[in-house]
Amino acid sequence: MKILMVCLGNICRSPLAEGIMQHLANEAGLDWQIDSAGTGDWHIGRAPDRRSIKAAADQGIDISKQVCRLFRESDFDDFDLILVMDKSNLANVLALARNIEDRGKVKLLLGDSIVPDPYYNDTQFAPVFKLIEAGCKKIIKVYS
Ligand code: 4NP
Repeated sequence: MKILMVCLGNICRSPLAEGIMQHLANEAGLDWQIDSAGTGDWHIGRAPDRRSIKAAADQGIDISKQVCRLFRESDFDDFDLILVMDKSNLANVLALARNIEDRGKVKLLLGDSIVPDPYYNDTQFAPVFKLIEAGCKKIIKVYS
């Protein structure tokens, strides 16, 4: 199973989602490959936000080696599932979908709720970690 996690900047939420999902999948003995991307291009080539790196490190997960990249059309071919954090990411990704098969791969990580953007609020990184972790555990239950 190949899963792509997507948010706006690919420096706060989707790097956490990539790290958490890869960690949980490895722990469960699943041969899953997880990546992440953003729909905005401001931070391409950079490491994740230091606050996300810390929130993950506090829970024993190293996301510091990840490199920010932009979501691209070929991601629809390369991944089985594309999990987005909020409804604006959903709209941005769906706008690039070429057909019904592409659209069918795209889902909100939390199903019917969103992972809020913590970029402007330092206190939100630990709660966002927990939200993403809960979402990833559900995905593993459904797809493993
Ligand atoms: P993310 O958070 O989408 O969770 O990575 C953001 C990071 C950067 C910006 C917005 C959201 N930005 O505007 O630079």
